[in-house]
Amino acid sequence: MREQDTDTPATDRDTLTVVHSAAELVVGPDDDVGVDVVEDGAFAAVDGTVVAVGSTPDVIAEYPLAEADSTVDAAGQTVLPGFVDPHTHALFAGDRSDEFVAKLRGATYEEILADGGGILRTVDAVREASDDELVSNLTAHLDAMLAHGTTTVEVKTGYGLDTETELRMLDAIDRAGSAHPVDVVPTFMGAHAVPRGMDTDDYVDDVVTEQLPAVAEQGIAEFCDVFCERGVFDAEQSRRILEAGREFGLTPKIHADEFAAIGGTDVAADVGAVSADHLLHTDATGRETLVEAGVTPVVLPGTAFGLGAAYADARAFLDAGHEVALATDFNPNCFARSMGFVATLASVGMRMTPHEAIRGITSAAANAIGRTDGTGTLRPGSPADAAVLDVPSATHLSYRFDTNPVSSVLKSGVVVHA
Ligand code: NIG
Ligand code: FE
Repeated sequence: MREQDTDTPATDRDTLTVVHSAAELVVGPDDDVGVDVVEDGAFAAVDGTVVAVGSTPDVIAEYPLAEADSTVDAAGQTVLPGFVDPHTHALFAGDRSDEFVAKLRGATYEEILADGGGILRTVDAVREASDDELVSNLTAHLDAMLAHGTTTVEVKTGYGLDTETELRMLDAIDRAGSAHPVDVVPTFMGAHAVPRGMDTDDYVDDVVTEQLPAVAEQGIAEFCDVFCERGVFDAEQSRRILEAGREFGLTPKIHADEFAAIGGTDVAADVGAVSADHLLHTDATGRETLVEAGVTPVVLPGTAFGLGAAYADARAFLDAGHEVALATDFNPNCFARSMGFVATLASVGMRMTPHEAIRGITSAAANAIGRTDGTGTLRPGSPADAAVLDVPSATHLSYRFDTNPVSSVLKSGVVVHA
């Protein structure tokens, strides 16, 4: 198998990178819900864009190693598209490890939140943190994510819950992202919780009439997300916020059916959300609603694992022929930055094959954040973002769950971690 972009003549090159001799190389989605894999695989990239992928002899015949500005010998290793993490709350401050212990003793997530803990404690910590502290907290997490193979990550606000702090969070996301090799995709989530002592409808008014116009004016956020959940924002409040966000040019996303199915999947379909995330309590009707509306389902097995909850029914989507995206949901309630670990949980907890899980953390995840430029694949024309794993096959990403298998990471054709 060999694919090549003939628009890029061999003589008109700037920077050529060749990654070669991989035991296995994952190219991108197959015609089903898995991925296409090449043995003895290679890809070539010019100026950060993939120009050829296929077997090593074929690729290096066209792009000789001697002409490359940089080469990566992946012999005995596996090359995957750089991981895309489409759902995180990676910008926060403070420490909620005591809530982890409280949960072990029987407290539930919803009880902790209703008592003014959980998200609301992180809000206190974020409001107190300086701008530089916020940037450096996120940067440290981006470093860890990159070391685990992630090259694109979505990061939500939602620990400000007032205009000033929400804007500060977006600014910190922008600053950390601009200075880091990982691509950071900003989402406004003012509707993450209701501030203490505030009426929910009054807070929805604040999000719609104060926060959203200011966020649009600032011009950093790309998506708008809502925690549509029992005891947080109901379906109508969620719909109002997402529709208002859409009018301000923000593409809707939604947290749906995490603890109870209260209509989040209908809202997702009605507002044209790019993704609906969590889906722990989604039934067949809800799944059908999402699929028919073209909403990408995002499942977060780390959250179920951390809460000791039942996993989402990813198999039901896959068995009906629909891809499922995976994300870490990294936040103080789910301290997981490794997409490899998420792949293991997806396989063990939801019976996703390793290839389905790889699709979930690459091209399906890119769809969940509206990246249609080939992100999450290594096809010609795609960004040359790749993770090189010191394992003999793609199957080993789910199979192994001890140490980090990632040996190097390329972003736009450049080795940014080794
Ligand atoms: O997706 N469920 C809502 N938001 C996050 C949790 C955020 C937090 O607990 O700080 C989630 O799991
Ligand atoms: Fe979340």
